[in-house]
Amino acid sequence: MRSAARRGRAAPAARDSLPVLLFLCLLLKTCEPKTANAFKPNILLIMADDLGTGDLGCYGNNTLRTPNIDQLAEEGVRLTQHLAAAPLCTPSRAAFLTGRHSFRSGMDASNGYRALQWNAGSGGLPENETTFARILQQHGYATGLIGKVLNAIEDNGLKNSTFTYFTSDHGGHLEARDGHSQLGGWNGIYKGGKGMGGWEGGIRVPGIFHWPGVLPAGRVIGEPTSLMDVFPTVVQLVGGEVPQDRVIDGHSLVPLLQGAEARSAHEFLFHYCGQHLHAARWHQKDSGSVWKVHYTTPQFHPEGAGACYGRGVCPCSGEGVTHHRPPLLFDLSRDPSEARPLTPDSEPLYHAVIARVGAAVSEHRQTLSPVPQQFSMSNILWKPWLQPCCGHFPFCSCHEDGDGTP
Ligand SMILES: *[C@@H]1O[C@H](CO)[C@@H](O)[C@H](O)[C@H]1NC(C)=O
Ligand SMILES: *[C@@H]1O[C@H](CO)[C@@H](O)[C@H](O)[C@H]1NC(C)=O
Ligand SMILES: *[C@@H]1O[C@H](CO)[C@@H](O)[C@H](O)[C@H]1NC(C)=O
Repeated sequence: MRSAARRGRAAPAARDSLPVLLFLCLLLKTCEPKTANAFKPNILLIMADDLGTGDLGCYGNNTLRTPNIDQLAEEGVRLTQHLAAAPLCTPSRAAFLTGRHSFRSGMDASNGYRALQWNAGSGGLPENETTFARILQQHGYATGLIGKVLNAIEDNGLKNSTFTYFTSDHGGHLEARDGHSQLGGWNGIYKGGKGMGGWEGGIRVPGIFHWPGVLPAGRVIGEPTSLMDVFPTVVQLVGGEVPQDRVIDGHSLVPLLQGAEARSAHEFLFHYCGQHLHAARWHQKDSGSVWKVHYTTPQFHPEGAGACYGRGVCPCSGEGVTHHRPPLLFDLSRDPSEARPLTPDSEPLYHAVIARVGAAVSEHRQTLSPVPQQFSMSNILWKPWLQPCCGHFPFCSCHEDGDGTP
């Protein structure tokens, strides 16, 4: 049981590589009577690693070529304000799999570690968390994690019966550079990147949904949405129910994607760096404005640089951050690059917005409760006997296609 839970957990290690397609879930309907399953699609969820929205042609990059992803967007729905629940791989993926902020499952920084460092630790998604894969299994799906990106779908004539989703775990890693060339992903016009919970560049990610014949082709939606929305979305698609005994932070995107609703169900979104709330977003439904309030921001290094080049990744707390009192306020609808903080003089609504968002933060805080910390020192420690092993420990080497004997 334990090993199954570990295999299914979000992100075994902090991957600091080039943006690569790393994480791909293929959820296939098994052969059940057709009537029961008539509207249940195959579900393919693709998550790239460290890819920024600025890396993709369909999000405006005209130097890199990404024709397959662009085609998904052309034939499907593209979200332009799609947000990771955390700016690092492990917590972002834990939130994605459970539809809940990662600190609700203990899958976020508690002692300085902000991501699981290797497979051979005892920390991981707790067994009492429910992933979308588990719910889909209960509805007759075979689920799996596989390697690579999409032609197989088309070659097998499954295009119209497959719901495909493409995203990234968080924004590009600005500090990953070689001289002046950018290696770690590009966040376009957005400020900041990987590791920064508040600034848009760390959390704004691609979001593309594709299901020909069911979802409209070429629709672009600017409403605020979250990676945590994918959990209730796929659960709704298969006719399941999200767990009722816990807080689920995501909302189903089905009405928005199909055009039955014009507004996203998120009025407020809370942006964390580790377990620290750095910023909050208010999607003001009557005016359509999107306000963003920053309580804490990282100190760039060197000063004014736009990232923490001197450190490799920005910290969430301690000496490397600035606490803003009063908070910084931006109107993302007018200033998506978060270039010009508003003041009471420049923005008549300044005090009203800060007060409304502050009240929402207090209300949100009441939904938090302490849980066992998966990133505690004892859970993080490398335990060789937990190392996934294709042979028999400690003889772990074997041929990839062998029978598991060393
Ligand atoms: C496209 O992405 C690359 C690197 O990922 C970046 O250097 C370049 O500036 C981007 N181009 C545009 C137009 O955003
Ligand atoms: C798939 O859906 C598209 C869009 O509705 C339609 O044009 C096409 O004919 C469908 N293909 C098949 C094989 O049903
Ligand atoms: C899982 O168990 C832990 C430890 O008992 C508890 O704190 C947490 O609330 C439980 N989570 C759920 C979703 O039931």
